[in-house]
Amino acid sequence: MYYLSPSILAADFNNLGRDVKLADEAGCDYVHFDVMDGLFVPSISFGMPVLQAVRKITDKVMDVHLMIQNPERYIADFARFGADIITVHIEATENLGNVIQMIREQGLKASVAINPSTPVEKLAPYLEQLDMVLVMTVQPGFGGQKYLEHCTEKVREVRALADEKKLSLNIEVDGGINFDNVEDVIKAGANVIVAGSTVFNQDITEAVHKFKDIFARN
Ligand code: DX5
Ligand code: ZN
Repeated sequence: MYYLSPSILAADFNNLGRDVKLADEAGCDYVHFDVMDGLFVPSISFGMPVLQAVRKITDKVMDVHLMIQNPERYIADFARFGADIITVHIEATENLGNVIQMIREQGLKASVAINPSTPVEKLAPYLEQLDMVLVMTVQPGFGGQKYLEHCTEKVREVRALADEKKLSLNIEVDGGINFDNVEDVIKAGANVIVAGSTVFNQDITEAVHKFKDIFARN
């Protein structure tokens, strides 16, 4: 099963509600919500009040990607304001096991992200506790970057590791995904596809349909 998770970082913030509704009605599966703190990544995006607003206008799975240092400080808040899945970065905390536990205790799906330079084997000790792994396919911090080719192999490695442990893990890819490279990441083992600019920088309905058509063929 494949899931499309449009990243609203690329939406028109003057018309955020309209853009989210368009993606929702076109049939996206998740809504990808990128939180940046200006510390773990250079940029600052948005946080709880925006999540609360978006939560009110869609019932889609809220896929919250925390690019923040020490995410343990905010798990309860993001849960309260409407997250369904919370992804934290392995590079952002000394207490990954505890953070995963905190997410699960809130009744949410727990996910861990790895940056393009972080080796896949670092995830191995945590895999059994996770619903999803997010393989970053650009440096986190900005939308609209070019897909980093070496990350396809990392997706393959995560899938192999999950298969070895007999886990039905979701694998999400995030950054630089477009209509030309999405099939490659799917073939490598990814099944949750984040797309920011490819969805929001053109006709949103058509873009969502196009991704869903590609999913249906695979
Ligand atoms: C990057 C974010 C991504 C990004 C994806 O730090 O995590 O979700 O917005 O945007 P595109 O699809 O434009 O690369
Ligand atoms: Zn993201």
